Amino acid sequence: MADLTASFHFMKHFLQETDFTLREAAAVFAHAQELKHTRGRGGPQPLAGQTWAMIFSKSSTRTRVSFEVGIHELGGNPLFLSRGDIQLGRGETVADTARVLSRFVHGLVVRTFDHAEVQGLADAGTIPVINALTDLLHPCQIYADAFTLAERWAAPGGDLLAALRGRKIAFVGDRGCNVANSWIMGANLFGMKISLAGPPGFDAAPEFDALLARSGFAGGYEFTTDAYAAVRDADVVYTDVWVSMGKEEETAERIRVMTPFAVTPELFAAAKPDALFMHCLPAHPGQEVAQAVLDNPRSIIFDQAENRLHVQKAILSALAAAR
Ligand code: CP
Ligand code: NVA
Repeated sequence: MADLTASFHFMKHFLQETDFTLREAAAVFAHAQELKHTRGRGGPQPLAGQTWAMIFSKSSTRTRVSFEVGIHELGGNPLFLSRGDIQLGRGETVADTARVLSRFVHGLVVRTFDHAEVQGLADAGTIPVINALTDLLHPCQIYADAFTLAERWAAPGGDLLAALRGRKIAFVGDRGCNVANSWIMGANLFGMKISLAGPPGFDAAPEFDALLARSGFAGGYEFTTDAYAAVRDADVVYTDVWVSMGKEEETAERIRVMTPFAVTPELFAAAKPDALFMHCLPAHPGQEVAQAVLDNPRSIIFDQAENRLHVQKAILSALAAAR
């Protein structure tokens, strides 16, 4: 098993895709591949003796289970803290929460609404923080997705990241959501092209463009209101729910304006003949995507879900190696 301490020297957080350099991301992907292929055969235990707290303010199936299982498999103890069960939910400050938890546990995995909260926990604490989804970004999802594509496209034993370069991803639907934002950042980091299609008026939050610019990727995406234009020559067609967690009050309006952006069999057929379909899940069949597309042999939705485990184990191992 490769030694991650050679690649990671300083304590790090993983709040956005660019918190790892391309070289560090390559080490994470290679490690994820080794962990995947050796799972269940007594793998490394870099979290032995450690407890990682998981503060969740939103629902989760994949992220919660993959982190709890992953921390356990790396020898650590996952401590799930629902926001409502801790004083943060009653108004204790983010900074004090970070300072107190830093005295008890070795790292934080955080799912919340406001991106500033994960940043605040990272800034005030003395332990690594992993972003497990905010309203702005979902970087663990995009690393797992990109790994899933690299696994498919790289030659056996070949360079995983090189397999992504120059490929085109089309994101159709709620183009301003956290997964779309994160894919913009990931596509720029990994040297992919990204085209997004969605209704006008559902752009990314202004803070996203500022964050993208600070990462050196200002304007690094194409946007169109024509779903067929977006998927032309695409290697991947990606969608996400139209109503993200926290947006429930806008449900009727979102369904009305996003219906023309559903991924139907016809739209999927307009991408490259060997294009893959991806969705971070949970899906709403019949809304953002047709059941026939979810069931298509070129749909890789459950590989994406499985790879959350392997890639997050590699991310946890990298952050543990860097302390
Ligand atoms: N894709 C994803 O993050 O799923 P969960 O909301 O179930 O964690
Ligand atoms: N955009 C979705 C992703 C769920 C994994 C949401 O935030 O609800």
